[in-house]
Amino acid sequence: MAAPAPQRLPEDLEDAILALKEERNAVILAHYYQDDEIQDLADVVGDSLALARAAQEVDSDVIAFCGVHFMAETAKILNPERTVVMPDLEAGCSLADGCPADEFEKFVAEHPGSTVITYINCTAAVKALSDVICTSSNAAKIVKHFHDQPIVFAPDRHLARWVAKEAGRDDLVVWPGSCVVHEQFSAKELAKLRVRHPDAEVLAHPECDEAVLDQADLIASTTGIIKRAVDSPAKTLIIATEDGVFHSIRELAPDKELIQAPGIDESCACNRCPYMRLNTLEKLYLCLRDLEPEVTVPDELRAKALRPIERMLELS
Ligand code: 13P
Ligand code: SF4
Repeated sequence: MAAPAPQRLPEDLEDAILALKEERNAVILAHYYQDDEIQDLADVVGDSLALARAAQEVDSDVIAFCGVHFMAETAKILNPERTVVMPDLEAGCSLADGCPADEFEKFVAEHPGSTVITYINCTAAVKALSDVICTSSNAAKIVKHFHDQPIVFAPDRHLARWVAKEAGRDDLVVWPGSCVVHEQFSAKELAKLRVRHPDAEVLAHPECDEAVLDQADLIASTTGIIKRAVDSPAKTLIIATEDGVFHSIRELAPDKELIQAPGIDESCACNRCPYMRLNTLEKLYLCLRDLEPEVTVPDELRAKALRPIERMLELS
């Protein structure tokens, strides 16, 4: 069989993407962990909650979702009539991968009568087994809402621990998942860095390990981290999340010194999400041109996964 013809790409990819966006009546939604040039082209850049909300309000024919699979899948669940494409279908997430639906179903069955609160970083099949979804920006609020009920919380154990503290609960039943990116921050190296920058504020994402979170001045979602970095009186910010958030902070507060929290292994770029960064400008162009790879969710599964997402949006 002949090898496939090489993909011919236009010289000015940005212009070509904008032209295709018009032609397709498409909207580009992007997470803060995307490459700067993708964020610059997006109609909406946001955290998981903002992107779910944006997906709910879309009125275009096509959504080009620059993020990871569970985010695009959520957009499809909220928009069954629209075409949802992603630059790279392989852009997954260690939290979603570490919580297979069949095992999660057994876990839930072992705790009958519990309200199942699941972080949005999971598959549609896991969402369908949940009572309500949450993101890092509303998890504590949602857990507090169910204060009088036993709770199963999945799939991030670090977020669960932080949320339990915030909500004053010591009885959450927790699925023991974690994020490969946020677990790489080193509490020991962070302590050393803070000695060198005594006036710096430390801003951390709740997916980080407890020993890192214990050193943080603020624990928040990516949007919360960006907002605080811009508003803070501190000139230097040490940031314990993926450095894609630096792009917005630099635009909004160019005079701030931004330092990414150190990793366990400084020889690798382990604090860059390997899944998010699979998306490139070239692949964004191709997905708008070819309307593939397309994100699909079977109708029956979609119906089951929709209710817990809508419940989250109602409670947020
Ligand atoms: P946010 O909801 O804070 O954007 O987090 C998403 C995520 O995947 C963090 O790793
Ligand atoms: Fe998943 Fe972690 Fe990447 Fe966020 S940073 S998408 S939680 S692997």
